[in-house]
Amino acid sequence: RDMEVLLVPFGQGAGRPGSEWGPEALVKAGLLEKLEAQGCKVNRSWVVPPAGSSVSLEKVCAGEQIGAMKHSSSVRGMNRLLAQQASAAVRRGRFPLLIGGDHSLAMGMLAGISEHYRRLGVIWLDAHADMNTEATSPSGNMHGIPLAVAMHVAELKLADIWPRAQSIDPRHLALVGARDIDPGESRLMEDLHIRCFSPQEIKHRGAANTMLEALQIAQRGTDGIHLSFDVDSLDPQYVPGTGTPVQGGLVPGEIAAAFGVLRRSGKLTSMDVVEVNPQLDQPDGRTARLAAGLVASLFNR
Ligand code: ARG
Ligand code: MN
Ligand code: MN
Ligand code: MN
Repeated sequence: RDMEVLLVPFGQGAGRPGSEWGPEALVKAGLLEKLEAQGCKVNRSWVVPPAGSSVSLEKVCAGEQIGAMKHSSSVRGMNRLLAQQASAAVRRGRFPLLIGGDHSLAMGMLAGISEHYRRLGVIWLDAHADMNTEATSPSGNMHGIPLAVAMHVAELKLADIWPRAQSIDPRHLALVGARDIDPGESRLMEDLHIRCFSPQEIKHRGAANTMLEALQIAQRGTDGIHLSFDVDSLDPQYVPGTGTPVQGGLVPGEIAAAFGVLRRSGKLTSMDVVEVNPQLDQPDGRTARLAAGLVASLFNR
């Protein structure tokens, strides 16, 4: 498989620093070598703001207003750069794999990819629903709103990030592993009839069965499928290195089984892995290593 690995050292969408070191940690954990050993052609590019750009990689908090989303202009700027790269990768016939970074980067990814896959299905593997709007966000952190942006129900729209973007239809979205859902998010999920597979349901029915159903949701009536893998979908005992851990998560075997279903389907057209925070990880880097192994397993022939 011809892959475009987009390494994005950006974490200003998260509420605490450290996820900007995620790409380095995943590279160090051998992710790219694993992919190559499995026969993937790996083209890698670091997505960073050009010199003189207004996108700041520093932790600039000046000018942030109370009640506003934090770092919103940097997040938007970074996502524009990413959307451009993601779109170009698809145009070249490559599989875009984003290595983040915090989950706000899914906005740029979905924006760029949806230029080509006009009816994109999305599987969102996460402890969170990530569909707060600017009005319902309890934190002001941009990594909590990407799905509302993608469905064009927030103030910010995918089309503000990438003009040729297409919004995500909630009927083509499946949430897997969500267990920490804010009131505004749960209202939206009810209004839009969004299917959510809780860890409880996954444990009861089995991860493979559950993912088969999620895959059907993302596949029916679509022309591509994006997998968004927030590592906090895993239980914190396996992923200490992530910024917003939530108890009661999935075990690595469940993710592996779910990924097996996706791999065998051959239906994925793009992916992201986000929210690895090496600064919060154990010294042995176990979070990055686990994530690298799981991601690579998706591309094993
Ligand atoms: N729901 C919370 C918020 O809006 C937490 C979001 C966590 N998101 C993530 N991608 N880890 O702030
Ligand atoms: Mn800040
Ligand atoms: Mn999460
Ligand atoms: Mn998330």
